[in-house]
Amino acid sequence: MLPSPPAILREPLFLGQVPIPSRFFLAPLAGYTSLAFRLAVRGCGGLGLATTDLVNARSLLEGRRRALELAESCDEDRPLSIQIYGAVPDEMCQAARWVEDQGVPAVDINMGCPVRKVVKTGGGSALMCEAQRASDLVGAVVDAVKVPVTVKMRLGWDDESLTAPELARSFEQVGVAGVIIHGRTRQQGFKGRVNRAGIKAVVDAVERIPVVANGDIRTIADAAETFVETGCAAVSIGRGALANPFFFRQLDRWAQTGDPGESPSYDERLDLMERHFHGLASRRGERFGCLQFRKILKWYFHFTRMPRPLYKRLLNLSSAALFDETLAIARAEGPEGPPPGHFEVHVPVPSGAIDKW
Ligand SMILES: Cc1cc2nc3c(=O)[nH]c(=O)nc-3n(C[C@H](O)[C@H](O)[C@H](O)COP(=O)(O)O)c2cc1C
Repeated sequence: MLPSPPAILREPLFLGQVPIPSRFFLAPLAGYTSLAFRLAVRGCGGLGLATTDLVNARSLLEGRRRALELAESCDEDRPLSIQIYGAVPDEMCQAARWVEDQGVPAVDINMGCPVRKVVKTGGGSALMCEAQRASDLVGAVVDAVKVPVTVKMRLGWDDESLTAPELARSFEQVGVAGVIIHGRTRQQGFKGRVNRAGIKAVVDAVERIPVVANGDIRTIADAAETFVETGCAAVSIGRGALANPFFFRQLDRWAQTGDPGESPSYDERLDLMERHFHGLASRRGERFGCLQFRKILKWYFHFTRMPRPLYKRLLNLSSAALFDETLAIARAEGPEGPPPGHFEVHVPVPSGAIDKW
C-alpha cells in the first residue's frame, strides 16, 4: 500500500523566479548525468530540475574541452542548473556569469563540506573564519548574476560537527535561492544511512528558501518519508534514477493522483535506451557512446529485460549500426520476463571520506 502524497506536492515550486515543474530533481552524478542522459530522462516525464556533473570554474573559463562538454546543454534541457566548484571567488563569479550568458536558468555551487571539523581548542574561531569565507564566496556569486544560485552540501564534517544548518542560514542571508542537502557527513562518505533528522535541522534553520533533501531515495515510500520527516520542499535523486529513469514520472503521477501509474512498457524502456545511446553518440561521437554504454549496459539489461543473448551481443558494443540492429531484434523478440522490481545499480563510489560531493 503506497503512502498518500503530502499536500505540498501539489503546490507550485519556484527557485527564485524560475518555475520548477515538479518537486523531484535529478542529482548530479559525475560521469553519468550527461546531456544525453538528462534528455533521455526528461523524455520519460515528471522531472523537476536537473543539474550537470560538477564543473571546475577555472577550467570552464579557460575553455577546456572537458569542462565545456560537462556544461553542454540545449533548449530542451530545461530547467537546468550547472554545478560549478572552485575556491577563488572571482573565478566562481565569472563562471556563474558564463552559465547565465548561456541562457541556463540556475547555478549550483558544489560545497561538499565547506568547513573543517570543529575541534575543542581554537576550532571555533577557525570554523567561524571558514564559514565566513564560504558565505562570502556564495554571496559574491549571488551578486554576480541575476539567475538563482543554489548550494549543494553535506550535513557537516562528522556527527559531532553538523554545520549545515548554520551555513544554510548564512547562505540564505546572502541571497541563495535554495540549498540541496545530502544527508550524510563528509566523514561518512557514502556509508551508513541518510540522517533525515539532520536534514530537518537545515529545514528548521532557514526562513523561506526551499531545502532539497538528497540521499538514498529509491522508492515512492522513501520519497514520502523524506518529505514527511524532513519538511523539505523537494527531493533530489541520484543513483535511484540510474536504476529507474522513469522514477520521476512515477513520483510525479503519484504526487498528483496517489497512484504511480503503469510501469513503463517494454517498448518505452527500449525507446529510453535508444535516446540515451544516440544522444551520446551524436554529441560525443560513436566511439565514446559505445564505450560509455558498455559501462551501463548491465543496468539496461536489468531494466529492459531484453533477451540475454542480445545483451551479450552488446557487451563489446563497437558501432551504432550494431546497437540499432540489436535493438530492432530485441523489439521483435519481446522481453525475457516481466518488468523488473526494484534493483540497485552498483555505481563505484569513493570508499572513504569525501572531499567535494
Ligand atoms: C558516481 C557519483 C558521482 C557524483 N557526482 C556528483 C557531482 O558531480 N556533484 C555533486 O554535487 N554530487 C555528486 N554526487 C553525489 C550525488 O549527487 C548524491 O548527493 C549522492 O549520490 C546521494 O544521493 P543518491 O543516494 O540519490 O545517489 C555523486 C555521486 C555518485 C555516486
